[in-house]
Amino acid sequence: MYLDENKLVHLFHSNSSYYPAIGKHAPTKYYQATSISKNYPAHPFDLQPETDCKTRFPSIGSIREYSKCPMQKSTMFTILQNSFCVRNAHSTTPSAGALLPIELYLVLLNVDQAEAGYYHYHREMQSLTYIKEVHGDLPFLTPVNQFAKSASFLIIMTGNLTSMILKYGARAYRYALLECGHIGQNVSLNSELCDAGSCAIGGFHDDLLSETLNLGPDEFPLYLYSVGIKSSE
Ligand SMILES: Cc1cc2nc3c(=O)[nH]c(=O)nc-3n(C[C@H](O)[C@H](O)[C@H](O)COP(=O)(O)O)c2cc1C
Repeated sequence: MYLDENKLVHLFHSNSSYYPAIGKHAPTKYYQATSISKNYPAHPFDLQPETDCKTRFPSIGSIREYSKCPMQKSTMFTILQNSFCVRNAHSTTPSAGALLPIELYLVLLNVDQAEAGYYHYHREMQSLTYIKEVHGDLPFLTPVNQFAKSASFLIIMTGNLTSMILKYGARAYRYALLECGHIGQNVSLNSELCDAGSCAIGGFHDDLLSETLNLGPDEFPLYLYSVGIKSSE
């Protein structure tokens, strides 16, 4: 049972990990949402809001241009701690079975009083452990996502799925993606609350990222975020 389910996770991941393959679906076509909202026929029981939607959160849009000013280390930690940390066995984001499969790695590029390099985020201590230096290019970034190089830092989310597969089988992969979404939403909101800008990044070369971080066989690179000070230009 375990082996088959494990194989399914690996199969799905490997079938979706060859980034250039997305071009084969429509190399020359420009895609956009077919409609902003799905529409059902009007019904007498339909409900309308009584007031305008006044959200308590800032509106968030993707920011891909960043200032050359380094980000304060304290700002980076505020964004990180509020987005994802574990205190007394409780996480800032829901986690299926509380198995906490998502690991965060950071690539510090332009943070004040911090050495550039790859780091691992310790979610209980909320500290960053230095792994290695950044060599020139970030090889795992695809051509359209080169903007991320001018960010203050990148967040790399991986799914460390060994325990999750034991409990949930192939469904573990789905749960890991959902958990990345929870953390990502927090990164978007907290960046904006800190007057910084962020961009979710799904386009990257999985194999090069796994190689760069020396990930084990059951740890999958899933989602990236670039975060930086908004450019005023
Ligand atoms: C799962 C996911 C993957 C994404 N991947 C990328 C990406 O690789 N590069 C990029 O520039 N934007 C990426 N985005 C950001 C979207 O392009 C962006 O959210 C969308 O165009 C809406 O624009 P807005 O965020 O400014 O409202 C991604 C967003 C999501 C949710």
